[in-house]
Amino acid sequence: MEINPVKGTHDIIGEEADLYDDIETAAKLTADVFGYKEIRTPIIEHSPLFVRSVGESSDIVTKEMYTFLDKGNREITLRPEMTAGALRSIVTNKLYVSNDLPLKYFYLGPCFRYERPQAGRYRQFHQFGIESVGVKNAYEDAEVIILGKRFLENIGLNNVKILINTLGDQISRSNYKAALKEYFAKHIDKMCDDCKRRFELNPLRILDCKVADDKPFIEDAPKMKDYLTTEAKSYFEEVISLLKMNDIEVEIDDTLVRGLDYYTGVVFEYHNNSENDIGALGGGGHYKNLLKEIGGPDLEGIGLAFGIERLVYVVKNNLGDKISHRGLDLYIMAMNKEAIDASFHIKDILRSYGLSVDGNNESKSFKSLFKIAVRKNTKFAIIIGEDEIKEGRLTVKNLKTQEQTSIKVDDAADILLTMVENYMENEGK
Ligand code: HAM
Repeated sequence: MEINPVKGTHDIIGEEADLYDDIETAAKLTADVFGYKEIRTPIIEHSPLFVRSVGESSDIVTKEMYTFLDKGNREITLRPEMTAGALRSIVTNKLYVSNDLPLKYFYLGPCFRYERPQAGRYRQFHQFGIESVGVKNAYEDAEVIILGKRFLENIGLNNVKILINTLGDQISRSNYKAALKEYFAKHIDKMCDDCKRRFELNPLRILDCKVADDKPFIEDAPKMKDYLTTEAKSYFEEVISLLKMNDIEVEIDDTLVRGLDYYTGVVFEYHNNSENDIGALGGGGHYKNLLKEIGGPDLEGIGLAFGIERLVYVVKNNLGDKISHRGLDLYIMAMNKEAIDASFHIKDILRSYGLSVDGNNESKSFKSLFKIAVRKNTKFAIIIGEDEIKEGRLTVKNLKTQEQTSIKVDDAADILLTMVENYMENEGK
């Protein structure tokens, strides 16, 4: 019986995996130039970590977590996001005992949410994210938003809209929540069941509701900007002016609250500027109390995360046929048993020079080997037949120009290395 993949999961194969790898490499390089070090935390954590951080009123905790009891009866959750784990690790390892604040970490890896699968929405997906913990000021907030923008540029996504909002400070937020409560009290009986629950737990969450019939009530709701304290307002303005200084355009969206409960202050999202909206490419925000809530000291932080699946989708759409499939440097076409024997050792030597090399280990016709070399996007086909064996030489064919040369086996590695380097130079790579 065939066993199907779990709903909402997907296999990443071959050329698509190359694209994931390119994006992840760009992510690491971007994090590196901004001074971030990697942090790798477990995929499984104790469930209360997420309940306490992502929040009891969030959709993630109420509906989307993969939670199970392990054999020791512990409640374990597959991480739905990576901020909570990174901050837990900062507490566990006392990383905050450092003179070098802010702590700056980036992470890459799979996350799990039991959501309804649709375009750009999976049950297992991958995130790249960063967290800067320990220094609170507008520069830190702005720099994180800039990092996200530069990362998108580095993977060729320039047509991106950044939405930004502030959830204000403690006083602003509690005044605003009170105003929302008063406003929604008049409408909540006509709204969806989720909103009824949100009304009790955290009325801010109602603003994130995606149900069409609820939209009119949400549009007319009080706006955060009218409840900001002078301090919160000027902090937000400072972040925006720092972004402007670095030519980062943002759009203020006063309905943006984000789906996780730990945010305070600035929140933001990156969207692809196209009609085909698959949801935010990434998002993040400032968190004042998160570290303290999970047992650490009173240090604030800011971070963001991108969904790699969504980035791959957009990059693929943008590039169309222009996606450069990684190919082989060399494909060795061994035309008979003796040639297969010889090529077996030659391949090993060439690979030790860092060349990517493949070739046939079973007999095949010239025509079919040639087709394989082309399909594998090979730079040079190396032909070894009867004559080549006799003369101790290799025939080298550039599959782009079709030019053919003959080289001595003894000098092959050095010559081929130079040929591949010249090829790359001509391609501008
Ligand atoms: P988030 O907005 O929940 O934030 O997720 C970040 C990104 O992950 C989203 O913008 C989206 O691209 C991707 N994503 C989320 N759910 C799915 C899904 N089901 N399928 C595919 N992609 C998805 C966070 O996770 C926060 N931890 C970000 C952050 C870091 N805030 C502060 N630091």
